[in-house]
Amino acid sequence: MQGKRILLIVTGGIAAYKTLEVIRRVRERGAAVRCILTKSGAQFVTPLSLAALSEDRVYDDLFSLTDEHEMGHINLSRQADVLLVAPASADMLAKMAAGLAGDLATTALLATDKPVLVAPAMNVRMWEHPATQANIQILKARGVGFIGPNAGDMACGEHGMGRMAEPAEIVDALEAFFGPVVKRLSGRRAIVTSGPTHEAIDPVRYIANRSSGKQGHAIAKALADMGCETTLVTGPTHQPDPMGCRVVRIESARDMLAACEAALPADIAVCAAAVADWRTADAAEGKIKKQPGAAPPALKMIENPDILAALSAAGNKRPALVVGFAAETSEVVANATAKRQRKGCDWIVANDVSPASGTFSGDSNTVHLITEAGAEHWPTLSKTDVADRLAALIAARFEAAE
Ligand code: PMT
Repeated sequence: MQGKRILLIVTGGIAAYKTLEVIRRVRERGAAVRCILTKSGAQFVTPLSLAALSEDRVYDDLFSLTDEHEMGHINLSRQADVLLVAPASADMLAKMAAGLAGDLATTALLATDKPVLVAPAMNVRMWEHPATQANIQILKARGVGFIGPNAGDMACGEHGMGRMAEPAEIVDALEAFFGPVVKRLSGRRAIVTSGPTHEAIDPVRYIANRSSGKQGHAIAKALADMGCETTLVTGPTHQPDPMGCRVVRIESARDMLAACEAALPADIAVCAAAVADWRTADAAEGKIKKQPGAAPPALKMIENPDILAALSAAGNKRPALVVGFAAETSEVVANATAKRQRKGCDWIVANDVSPASGTFSGDSNTVHLITEAGAEHWPTLSKTDVADRLAALIAARFEAAE
């Protein structure tokens, strides 16, 4: 979406906070965002946050003569390539369906000659109400594109349809709208591991770690976006499934190994999962009982299979490019370089996971890519950008070999 212009209309809804992330992500992809904030939207996000993230002024007053002089409401809607309403409240959908033009947002929507996408967000009863459903039908018939909503828990405590689509889904929809990116990895197959593993102690307790799956999921999506047939093997996470990937959900390291082996053959393997190195030797069949006066149980640990090492040594099924990650808390590059040798992978992406780095579960990452040619030090980037950059290098490696 490089060079595209999005007019973003933010209406009132608790989901407005997610819209800030949408701005960040589409700007990372080279699009320009200009915001209109409705009066009710301003109850949930400030013009300052929108202005800071969009690096543009925020429009919120239809009758400002200065605005009309500098950028009339007609121009505002015509200069964009697409109008995106996120969150789109039930009230806004009703106004759009009725063709009202009582404020800047609705005026821009009525005056536009550009496509309109909406990401609805509202309470489940409001979503299901026949009035809202009728408005949706009217808008769809006029060509308005709907992104979501999703089903799930709501801020109001109810459960059901009406949660705004996640920022990643909205960005995916915009990318699909603007047309496909160059499919540099089309015809290739990849396996990506992501998230933590859970190693059972008994049926109710397990050993886990702090991996959120953000980095691994972003890599799977970046590869899929390049046309790669991607299988994402993921431990338990709260990340939405990346669009375009086959997702296999597992719990333990042994499940992850089996799922990866079943996904072979592949051209590319990227092991970003934080796999538990050890598991309990004998997970109890029933819940371990706390016995009054008895000593706490001692856990005997045994080593888990190493998935990265196994894929690197998969003989004639070995992917042509195997990329590992190294999670280190000291001597990051030196330790990762030794790990690359030890595990037999081609590249290793080293990252510092000491608590101060915020790498586990955070949105950004500072990585060092270690290849046969040495170490390349990348600046701090969003995990999405790390993924895009890695996918671009992977594509270049295959293009160079052709
Ligand atoms: O999920 P996020 O919150 O976004 O965090 C991202 C991350 C920090 C988890 C990720 O960037 C990362 O560093 N992943 C690798 C974590 C890890 O387990 O590192 P390690 O140094 O312990 O293992 C080295 C490599 O061997 C990794 O590729 C790992 O997937 C693999 N491994 C490890 C143990 C094992 N039994 N099997 C493996 O395949």
